[in-house]
Amino acid sequence: MHQLTLTAKDNTALAPLLTELAGTFATIENPELIRRAPVLACSLPSRLLEFLEEFRSTEPSAVCLVSGLDVDDRTLGPTPEHWRNTEAASTALPQEIFFLLCAARLGDVFGWSTQQDGRIMHDVLPIKGHEHYELGSNSLQHLSWHTEDAFHPCRGDYVALMCLKNPDLAETVVCDAGDLDWDALDVTALLEAEFTQMPDNSHLPQNTAQSTGNPVQDRLRARSFALIRSWNENPVKRPVLFGDRHDPYMALDPYHMKHDDWTKRSLNAFRDLCDQIEKNMRDVILRPGDIAFIDNFRAVHGRKSFRPRYDGSDRWLKRLNITRNIRGSRAWRPAAADRIIY
Ligand SMILES: [Fe+2]
Repeated sequence: MHQLTLTAKDNTALAPLLTELAGTFATIENPELIRRAPVLACSLPSRLLEFLEEFRSTEPSAVCLVSGLDVDDRTLGPTPEHWRNTEAASTALPQEIFFLLCAARLGDVFGWSTQQDGRIMHDVLPIKGHEHYELGSNSLQHLSWHTEDAFHPCRGDYVALMCLKNPDLAETVVCDAGDLDWDALDVTALLEAEFTQMPDNSHLPQNTAQSTGNPVQDRLRARSFALIRSWNENPVKRPVLFGDRHDPYMALDPYHMKHDDWTKRSLNAFRDLCDQIEKNMRDVILRPGDIAFIDNFRAVHGRKSFRPRYDGSDRWLKRLNITRNIRGSRAWRPAAADRIIY
């Protein structure tokens, strides 16, 4: 793993910048803050900037961990019961700003109109009633490993998680494509567009608000939900590998795949790949102040089950999606400056 620990001196040096920005911008969703993030990020410690750039440009590992950011549990207050309840002033705004600035060194952050009410910064926390549902807000059931948004052509290059609380040390799991024995797999078959990938549950209309409160956005979002419905009804076949055949990238979410009409060769190649991924899955335990940037081309990730508490002390993460090719989604965004994909 590519890892850097912030020192007490780093935290002291960062505090004035984070405090000032948290005083200027009331919410991380402020488009002006997001637009300025790449420039503001130039003020981060040069050691951190070099570390992030090495991860971005040389791909030394599928996971980049920045740990040691100051998080004060008393300032945070209780873990919300639902991500929808975090709309008011965030108690973690300085940490969210730091997270955003680091992310801005890897690419552009973006959100989905069809996920968590079109927010850019997501909350990952256990929700009552979701315990056994295949969604990041489940708990008693493990979250199956997957490529983030594997079904969508505009999926991010990175999915990033910042830990605020994890009292029972629930394990995030990650498999790095670099650990797989590609010579033992049928890479040729896996590079073919023969694999049926469906949208995941986080993009279903029942998991987001009825209305955005803006008729134009509602119309655009209805179009997105219709497209997702059509991809569920008539799933698109995609390759599960792409890039260099000797060191390939991956895009798969087996829980949301339909195997019905695959050829025997595709099915065997897919099962062998999944078996190898299972064998090479590693635990990454996130602690408060840890930020994991997961390379969404090189890694699949999931989470082991844990017992939710529902007493305000539950596991609580923030999540960002990051792309290195924001213009690749231009047809899905109403304006060049928009960072929400419709
Ligand atoms: Fe995920």
